[in-house]
Amino acid sequence: MPQSDIGFYGHVKQYHNLKAEIDQAILDVLESGSYVLGPQLIRFEAELARYMKTQEAVGVNSGTDALWLVFLALGLGPGDEIITTSNTFFATAEAIWLAGATPVLVDCDPRTRNIDVTKIEAAITSRTRAIVPVHLYGLPANMPEVARIAKAHNLFVVEDCAQGIGARGDHFAIGELSDAVCLSFIIQKNLGCFGDGGAVATNKEDLATEIRKLRNHGSVKRSHHSIGYNSRLDDIHAAVLRVKLKRVDDWSGRRREIAKLYDQGLADAPLTLPFTPSGYEHVYHLYVIDSDERDALQTYLQSKGIIALTHYPIAIHQQEGFPWGHPARVGSLPVTEKSAASVLSLPMYPELTDQEVERVIEEVLNWSASRETLSRAV
Ligand SMILES: Cc1ncc(COP(=O)(O)O)c(C=O)c1O
Repeated sequence: MPQSDIGFYGHVKQYHNLKAEIDQAILDVLESGSYVLGPQLIRFEAELARYMKTQEAVGVNSGTDALWLVFLALGLGPGDEIITTSNTFFATAEAIWLAGATPVLVDCDPRTRNIDVTKIEAAITSRTRAIVPVHLYGLPANMPEVARIAKAHNLFVVEDCAQGIGARGDHFAIGELSDAVCLSFIIQKNLGCFGDGGAVATNKEDLATEIRKLRNHGSVKRSHHSIGYNSRLDDIHAAVLRVKLKRVDDWSGRRREIAKLYDQGLADAPLTLPFTPSGYEHVYHLYVIDSDERDALQTYLQSKGIIALTHYPIAIHQQEGFPWGHPARVGSLPVTEKSAASVLSLPMYPELTDQEVERVIEEVLNWSASRETLSRAV
């Protein structure tokens, strides 16, 4: 029997599994006549705040806007430097530029791939105002150390949690050691709507109030405005996210099961597998391996009907034209540069079956064995 392809995302499968509930939630919004800043958004914000164990959650229209609006609300802008990791999706730095501030890119730790906390203090200057750790691939950054440094230097901490909803550190929760947590709900995230969406979770009421204002043309009272933007999370998306939020911990559990199968099945392959520090709860937004022959492995898997992608093959500071006339400060970033050339994300979503995971493992092992035979022959 021919084997079916294994795609990189399970969006449609997930929709089919929840179809009755999602369709009803969307229909209810359509019939309600309230589509923007309506009751679904208010309920979702309350449920998200409860889930995140923060005082407040504010829906916005993307993870990028969540970051950018937090920077604005904290008063960060031109002349300010914001430290973040060089090993992240482009949007983390982009949001810093959008606020008019200067990104300062610090290399990542070779094992966790998150910001290398031993390199943060050397990057601090009199202009530094904030640190933005990213919980990359679903593994929390070393928040206690980030918070310690921030406190010593009087800096804000804004967590980029676009990939990490539901993750935990060993003795800390996301949101506990920072001023704000920024979430993305673009469809491919662990909690995704059918399009773009985002939120800010925070224990600071004044910050939440300011973001509520900024996202809605500087207005919290009809016809009263100050300068703001249009960055609201629509009620249709909020209704879908309410259905999915109830499942996100189960989905994280399934992601961990899949990661365990990969860990066991690939333990002897000549690859570097993901590392989780003791006591941390990874949510495996992505399962990322390293191979010096990454491109060949990706092509081989594709020829077998298995889609593996790269996150991220071109580092921010190596994008063409960087920094496009915007100020940025970049030190030496060898770990990030090496990662860009060697990382490969295997299929990872809760709807993958064990058989599909076994097939990915089998093909990675077949490829590894063929490389070994080849190298022995040379
Ligand atoms: C680490 C990280 N930061 C920020 C973002 C931006 O989120 P969005 O695409 O919702 O704007 C993303 C994802 O897209 C991301 O992965």
